[in-house]
Amino acid sequence: YSLRSHNTFRIDVRAKKFIEYSSKESLKSLIETGEVVPPFLHIGSGSNLLFLEDYDGTILHSKIEDIDIVEEDEKSLVLRVGSGVNWDELVAYTVSKSWYGLENLSLIPGEVGASAVQNIGAYGVEVKDFIQLVETIDLEGRKRNYSPEECQYAYRYSIFKEKENKNIIVTHVHYKLSKQEQYNLEYGSIQRALSDYEDVNLANVREAIIKIRQTKLPDPEQIGNAGSFFMNPVVDKVHFEKIQKEYPDMPFYRIDEDHIKIPAGWMIDICGWKGKSIGQAGVHDKQALVLINKGTATGSDVLLLSKAIQKDVYQKFGIEIYPEVNFIG
Ligand code: EPU
Repeated sequence: YSLRSHNTFRIDVRAKKFIEYSSKESLKSLIETGEVVPPFLHIGSGSNLLFLEDYDGTILHSKIEDIDIVEEDEKSLVLRVGSGVNWDELVAYTVSKSWYGLENLSLIPGEVGASAVQNIGAYGVEVKDFIQLVETIDLEGRKRNYSPEECQYAYRYSIFKEKENKNIIVTHVHYKLSKQEQYNLEYGSIQRALSDYEDVNLANVREAIIKIRQTKLPDPEQIGNAGSFFMNPVVDKVHFEKIQKEYPDMPFYRIDEDHIKIPAGWMIDICGWKGKSIGQAGVHDKQALVLINKGTATGSDVLLLSKAIQKDVYQKFGIEIYPEVNFIG
């Protein structure tokens, strides 16, 4: 079974078996009848994966697509959303209903299930701030609901990313949204983009975010990529100040008194990698944090490029950067 259309890097690998299910009950019966056995890999839209080789097992994909209001009062509501719902369609829907919260996360590729596993984030917002409950089922057919505290959310992290939890499948995510006007507009580039609009409202914030993303990030339909390839590293203050002396214009985000986050994209850019490539694997010319498939790259080509970048960043800045993308194989 070809996985080319199931990973946004458009790497041409195969899996033994591919299974889709459209409800919690059908997943449960697939599990009970022994259709789903390890090794298996649950994917969303494959927007954060790099396949290094053929997958010798079963690929699972959710098509659970129901959306229901499960709690509501004058100020807020809780939406229960199936893991297979396309993320940006959910954001568009909430914006059209004038429900506040998810708008800064517009146009992030992927699906609802992955939003809760990966704690997706952009423009000063992380999805963990809205998640109220995560419904799961494991490979023994046991159902369990996780509170956000139990998910142990952190930057692009939840416990569902741990190896020992790979047998847990997210079926629904509950998001708490506000009916009262509230925005997150601190992130520099949003303010600039919003100054083109007469007033600030949900639709305009969504549109501004979409515009920013479209100018920086390649559309996977046209150029294979998986968004940010590396995570932004956090360094201690002493190290940061040493670098800042040499690069006074370096962008940064303060985490706490002693820790500062430095954009990996900026460092990769300074290393001269922007727009460069090794064979069919390249660095996007508008955002150096994004690696691209120029057409026929293999997973190993991308891996080779990523290693060369990590090495250069380490040599220049003394900072290790780690992939955000999940390597499979
Ligand atoms: N920069 C450069 N050159 C580059 C890229 C970035 O100088 O080639 C500079 C920018 O000018 C800016 C700073 O670095 O001053 C940060 O860049 P940007 O705002 O584009 O954000 P980022 O830190 O590179 C993160 C997320 C993105 C998210 C944006 C916006 C991670 C790993 N990435 O990128 O998330 O959209 O912030 O919030 O945290 C993703 O996870 O796939 C993703 C796209």
